[in-house]
Amino acid sequence: MEVWLKCDYFVKYKRMKIDILTIFPDMFKGPFDESILRRAQDKLLVKIKIHNLRDWTEDKHKSVDGRPYGGGPGMILRVDVVDRAIKNIKSQTSNSKQIQNLKSQKTKVILLSAKGKKYNQQKVQEFSKLDHLILVCGHYEGVDQRIADYLVDKVVSVGDYVLTGGELPAMVVVDSVVRLLPGVLGDKSSLKEESHTKPGYVEYPQYTRPEEYKDWKVPEILLSGNHAEIEKWRQEKAKKK
Ligand SMILES: C[S@@+](CC[C@H](N)C(=O)[O-])C[C@H]1O[C@@H](n2cnc3c(N)ncnc32)[C@H](O)[C@@H]1O
Repeated sequence: MEVWLKCDYFVKYKRMKIDILTIFPDMFKGPFDESILRRAQDKLLVKIKIHNLRDWTEDKHKSVDGRPYGGGPGMILRVDVVDRAIKNIKSQTSNSKQIQNLKSQKTKVILLSAKGKKYNQQKVQEFSKLDHLILVCGHYEGVDQRIADYLVDKVVSVGDYVLTGGELPAMVVVDSVVRLLPGVLGDKSSLKEESHTKPGYVEYPQYTRPEEYKDWKVPEILLSGNHAEIEKWRQEKAKKK
């Protein structure tokens, strides 16, 4: 039996599994090893696994990509390699004891692509309710269109600009989803009135010590101790933005 089955957090909270498929696994060293994401993994609230797509190649050169049919620049990620990877990860997960114990396992496969639907807080909330996320990162010129058409559930873009690979977007998805998982944030009221929890909503301004710095003062109302007035002020300011 794996250690996490015995852990208090498992009794209280369901653990999410996130698998990331990439040709540059080392890019993920660091971002998941600090702060809230590190603690979430240590508390066994999420299991993040980085996979090297080359592990699912079948030729001696371990080729993950090829030249585009019809000509053009760059290299395109191969559909067969990604298909084997996704199938293998899905079958490993459904064979695992922990997952069999869950009543219904909700998995989504996401392709990170500049051509995808724009990622927003509503998507973050939707993904945070799943049991299992598989994130596919393209690189170089992009991916074979059949990956988007036949292998994934959603194609997601982190913004209207082009990055060198899907690795940074995958980190954005993981970070935004994991902080919403139950038990991850020490004080869950931090999530209540956050920016983008409703479309167009941005949080009120916040201040801390010192009360005055240079001639920049903290708004007097926040020092008044009048909680009703403070609440009113915050609501006004949040709306104003
Ligand atoms: C250089 S980009 C390919 C861009 C592609 N030729 C195009 O015009 O849409 C390489 C990879 O980076 C990732 N990527 C780039 N920009 C992205 C974005 N805004 N959101 C999500 N993924 C992105 C995708 O995985 C993509 O396959």
